[in-house]
Amino acid sequence: MQLSQADIEKFHREGFLFFPDVFTPAEVALLAEEAVAIFDHDRKEIWREKSGAPRTAFAAHTYNEGFRRLGAHPRLIRPVEQIFADKLYMHQFKINAKAAFDGDVWQWHQDYGTWMRDDGMPEPRAMNISVFLDEVMPINGPLMLIPRSHRHGTLAAGHDLETTSYPLWTLDKEVVTRLVNEGGIVAPTGLPGAVLMFHGNLVHGSAGNITPFPRKIVYLTLNAVSNFIRTPTRPEWIAHRDFTPIEPVADDALIQYALTRRAAA
Ligand code: SIN
Ligand code: MN
Repeated sequence: MQLSQADIEKFHREGFLFFPDVFTPAEVALLAEEAVAIFDHDRKEIWREKSGAPRTAFAAHTYNEGFRRLGAHPRLIRPVEQIFADKLYMHQFKINAKAAFDGDVWQWHQDYGTWMRDDGMPEPRAMNISVFLDEVMPINGPLMLIPRSHRHGTLAAGHDLETTSYPLWTLDKEVVTRLVNEGGIVAPTGLPGAVLMFHGNLVHGSAGNITPFPRKIVYLTLNAVSNFIRTPTRPEWIAHRDFTPIEPVADDALIQYALTRRAAA
C-alpha cells in the first residue's frame, strides 16, 4: 500500500488515517482465532482485566507465526516508512481483547506520553497501527479519537494506577473537553481487516464493552530506527529493545499462512 500526497497531508492535519479494507476478512480470520487461543494461556505477556477477562496480549509477533507475518506486512510497513522517511522497528505489539461483556475502559491518553516518560523515546516518530480482527461497531467499545489533538504536542498527564488493571498516563477532563470542543470525536468502525493509523500524540480512548460482541484489535507501534528508545523502564516484551529494521514479508504472506495452517488441521 502506497500513501498518496493527499493521504500524507491528511495524516499531518487530522492525526490519523482510516482504511476500511486493507486486509480481506479471510486474511485475518485465522489471526482472530489464534488470538482467542493466545488469550487462553497464562503467560507473563498476557494481562487481564480486574474481572479476569483478557485485556492485552503483548509481543504475540514473537511467539506466533501469523502475528509475526502481520507485524512485518508490507501493507503496514511501507506507508509508515513513507511518513517517517526511515526504516522501522517494532517498539510494541499488542492484541487488545476488549472482551464481550467484560472489556474495560481505556481512559483518554496520548501514547507518546508513555513512550517518552516510561521508555525514553526521543520524538513522537512512532506510528500506532490498529488492525481490526473483529467487526468494530459503535456499540462494542470502538477506539475514539480526537481529530487534530496531536497538534498540541505532549500534554501534562497523571499516572493512573487505579482505574483499570493497566497503569496509564491519562489526561484531565478539562483538557479533554477543550480538545473535543475544537476537534470533536470520531470512532472509526468497520469489518475485520480494516486499518487505522494514528499519530503518537493523538488523544484517544475507548469505553467498556458490555455487548456480547468481542472487539479484538491488534496494535503495532512502529518506531523510526533513528528514534530508538534510550532509557526503557518497562520489560522488554512491552517496550522492545531489538532495533533491527523490519524487512517486509511477501504481500500474500497471511493468506499463505492461513492456507498452510488449514491444510495441516
Ligand atoms: C490503547 O489506547 O492503547 C488501546 C485502546 C483500545 O484498545 O481500545
Ligand atoms: Mn493508546
